[in-house]
Amino acid sequence: MARNRYDMDEVLEDSFDVGQLKRLAHYISPYKHKMTGVIILMLTASGLTMMVPIFFQRIMDIYIPARDMRGIVITGLLTLAVACYSAVAMRFKIKTMSVIGQNIIHAIRTDIFNHLQELPFSYYDDRPHGKIQVRVVNYVNSLSDLLSNGIVNTITDLCNLLFIILFMLFCDVRLTLVCLCGLPLLAAVVVFIKRKQRRAWQIQSNKQSNLNAYIAESINGIRVTQSFVRENENTDIFNNLSGSYRKAWMRAVTFNFIMGPSVDMISCITTSFLYVLGIRWILAPDATLTVGVLVAFTAYVSRFWAPINTLAGFYNSLLTAISYLERIFETIDEPVLVKDAEGAVEMPPIKGEVEFRDVCFSYEEGRRILDHISFTAAPGVTYAFVGPTGAGKTTIVNLISRFYNVDSGQILIDGTDIAGVTIRSLRTQMGVMMQDSFIFSGTIMDNIRYGNREATDEQVIAAAKTVCAHEFISQMENGYYTEVNERGSRLSAGQRQLISFARALLADPRILILDEATSSIDTETELLLQKGLNELLKGRTSFIIAHRLSTIQNADCIMYIDKGGILERGTHEELLSQKGAYYELYMSQYDFLA
Ligand SMILES: Nc1ncnc2c1ncn2[C@@H]1O[C@H](COP(=O)(O)OP(=O)(O)OP(=O)(O)O)[C@@H](O)[C@H]1O
Ligand SMILES: [Mg+2]
Repeated sequence: MARNRYDMDEVLEDSFDVGQLKRLAHYISPYKHKMTGVIILMLTASGLTMMVPIFFQRIMDIYIPARDMRGIVITGLLTLAVACYSAVAMRFKIKTMSVIGQNIIHAIRTDIFNHLQELPFSYYDDRPHGKIQVRVVNYVNSLSDLLSNGIVNTITDLCNLLFIILFMLFCDVRLTLVCLCGLPLLAAVVVFIKRKQRRAWQIQSNKQSNLNAYIAESINGIRVTQSFVRENENTDIFNNLSGSYRKAWMRAVTFNFIMGPSVDMISCITTSFLYVLGIRWILAPDATLTVGVLVAFTAYVSRFWAPINTLAGFYNSLLTAISYLERIFETIDEPVLVKDAEGAVEMPPIKGEVEFRDVCFSYEEGRRILDHISFTAAPGVTYAFVGPTGAGKTTIVNLISRFYNVDSGQILIDGTDIAGVTIRSLRTQMGVMMQDSFIFSGTIMDNIRYGNREATDEQVIAAAKTVCAHEFISQMENGYYTEVNERGSRLSAGQRQLISFARALLADPRILILDEATSSIDTETELLLQKGLNELLKGRTSFIIAHRLSTIQNADCIMYIDKGGILERGTHEELLSQKGAYYELYMSQYDFLA
């Protein structure tokens, strides 16, 4: 898929796959007994309510002419009992269905989140994170109405409709037929707007997604925005996106608004016909209709249109929900490209030999980043990667943890192809410190312990001491229990690096990967850190990436990476004596410092 951006609409599905609704049914099925109970309760309530017009008809046609006070009082009390029963049933429905609706939403949201955690880096590389968030939060929320009220209301309304038609037929067949004439008209309206309405809601969801993507991006980039005084331009972009969203929403609801008035209009027309014909039949010489029957019937007519009106509302919310459901299930169905192969085995305890065997890799088709890379790192040695920006150093180390699949070739650890082992068993034996390490909200202790949940406080402190982070942490107001916020914005860049460094060490890995681990740390601290590390790195294979050559001079092997290949390899001295690219780089840094 091409990379998506905040100003790029996602691809719209052409026709709706009914399978999506079946999948929704899968989430609903654990609650089917409760929902059936609610439906039965609602149906008995509406069945009883439907008796009320008959009670009135009896009062008018029988008890009043016969001046039967007892009959009138008993019928009145029955009406009251029916009203109370309906009220209790309605309250029970609202409460139960709200809980069920929220439970289903929780289950769907959990499934998306769990799936998102498994999706590979490439998924996140390809789209704005705001577009992912909107699916987990807003789209799932938008199903709330459909799930809590829509489904039960629809089933009860459909049954009600059937009941009412039966009662209407019982009252008068001719009047019922007049009333039913309105339904084909309504069906014509539905058919006429269906496609446009679906498309309008799809577009609306896209615009909402774009807007969310831009908001998320703006918040993440707020410091740069403010330092380059870009607020006005950003506001313009925001207004544009928000305007598009508003327009799309207005257009979509316009279609929804067609349904309600259409039902009202059709009901008005049929009811007028009903009165005209009804009065004619009452006034006809052979009086084929009584006033009581017409009054009772007109009471049913209003009840006949009420469920149709809610069904029309349900139809609207179904179309709206479908545009969200598509996106929700699309996320859940997103293939996990980096996953355990069939029959994957546990990675045995790693000794530390890492071999790249003719590895080719590209992030995007047609743009090769690593071109037939081969090298073997012996256990326990320190390998360093240097080279120009964008050469592929981070890419190489990302492949060792299998964050991406290679295009061709193999990566072997202790002779085992990492493509054939479980990802969990592989990654738990590695300590990775990424170039853009992340600090999570929580205490510093929690952040370091991220590397190994089982580590004791003492082990955390020991790791911090090794990377020379202990001193600054101890000076913070609550030491290791000082709260830091997401991305660690209250820490300096070097402090963030040290915490991430300690986190990588705490995993007690056999293979340690440090990508620009000390680039923001002053040279004095780095020197101290190196001393502590030398002891610790013994027996572990480590891959260190650094632009500052002083950091990696002591590595057992230095590889100079450029244009997707290994240009030079050897020890610091060997490479210097070659007087090649490494030598040039070294001299430029030396000159720079001199
Ligand atoms: N997620 C990605 N999607 C597409 N291309 C990428 C991605 N990450 C990196 N690249 C491209 O791959 C190439 C190698 O990137 P890499 O991050 O490995 O470089 P690097 O050697 O680590 O550079 P630096 O020293 O700046 O960290 C670059 O040209 C970059 O544009
Ligand atoms: Mg890099």
